[in-house]
Amino acid sequence: MMNRFEQRQQELLAAPKTWLVTGCAGFIGSNLLETLLKLNQKVVGLDNFATGHRHNLQQVQQLVTPEQWQAFRFIEGDIRELSDCQTAVAGVDYVLHQAALGSVPRSINDPIATNNTNISGFLNMLQAAKEAGVQGFVYAASSSTYGDHPALPKVEANIGNPLSPYAVTKYVNELYADVFSRCYGFHSTGLRYFNVFGPRQDPNGAYAAVIPKWTAAMLAGDDVVINGDGETSRDFCFVANAVQANILAATTALGKSEVFNVAVGDRTTLNDLFHAIQQRLSANGAHYQKEPLYRDFRAGDVRHSQADVSKAERLLGYVPSHTLSAGLAVAMPWYIRHNS
Ligand SMILES: NC(=O)c1ccc[n+]([C@@H]2O[C@H](COP(=O)([O-])OP(=O)(O)OC[C@H]3O[C@@H](n4cnc5c(N)ncnc54)[C@H](O)[C@@H]3O)[C@@H](O)[C@H]2O)c1
Repeated sequence: MMNRFEQRQQELLAAPKTWLVTGCAGFIGSNLLETLLKLNQKVVGLDNFATGHRHNLQQVQQLVTPEQWQAFRFIEGDIRELSDCQTAVAGVDYVLHQAALGSVPRSINDPIATNNTNISGFLNMLQAAKEAGVQGFVYAASSSTYGDHPALPKVEANIGNPLSPYAVTKYVNELYADVFSRCYGFHSTGLRYFNVFGPRQDPNGAYAAVIPKWTAAMLAGDDVVINGDGETSRDFCFVANAVQANILAATTALGKSEVFNVAVGDRTTLNDLFHAIQQRLSANGAHYQKEPLYRDFRAGDVRHSQADVSKAERLLGYVPSHTLSAGLAVAMPWYIRHNS
């Protein structure tokens, strides 16, 4: 029997829709773009290359047919400009809003930049989508919204105080989404991603995420540095799971605004993650012999994180397709191939 995601893919193939992916030159956005084009959908992309790259778009082009690529229209623009949002959303059925400035440390260093894109930009996109009357609006929320709430696993209804400016911005997105539901009857769905990883996640720069950063360090023979004692844990989520959740959320009418955890429902410590990456690289012929170095805990970091994904399973038919190790098995060969 087909699961809900397989069914939705069949329906989309039979009756293609028009999608807007904001942040399409970034990691998650470019994976959404790839999947949608492979499903013969029409896609409009919006990005200002703040943290995304043209080479991500070029890679997607190589992974789809010329006909599929022709169904993509890219707009270089900025969500901080309402008119760019209005242009991008015209004629669109579903919006997958991914554009934002990620990273807790970035937000601690420059809270105003994070606020401008993640709150003002978000509000522009929400307003433009409401005015255009799109059928579905899905946005990237974040597990950082759980803040200092101690319960594990994390259940959507129980959140604590935000621990960083980034977490504030992602929580404000949820508040605006909820208020747009109440005031205007415009419903949207927030996906609280938990540490997403996979091909095209940027390994470079001060704000790189842990998996691409460590993988690049191991491939270069550099030191791997663990913040804290290594017993900090996360629910690492392969990007295919996030893509599935987006497509299901966009095409499911819930009748109100909702938020969902998007992860696997597992918890892996940084020490175990180090060994999992090391082993997976080894299996691909890239051996790393050094022990990790330990330094202080990083400000704003949550100690443990693990999702309860039963709400997404129940209401969206979400079934994570990849565990951490299955995701690493796909991601590591990609990092080896694209190691510069
Ligand atoms: N990767 C994760 O683990 C994770 C976890 C929780 C939430 N998220 C959220 O998911 C979304 C995508 O994250 P990602 O990991 O793909 O990051 P990313 O940095 O690779 O992608 C973000 C994209 O948004 C674009 N962008 C930034 N500011 C913009 C602006 N003002 N106008 C237009 N485009 C702009 C960037 O250029 C980039 O291409 C973000 O909203 C992020 O906060 C990610």
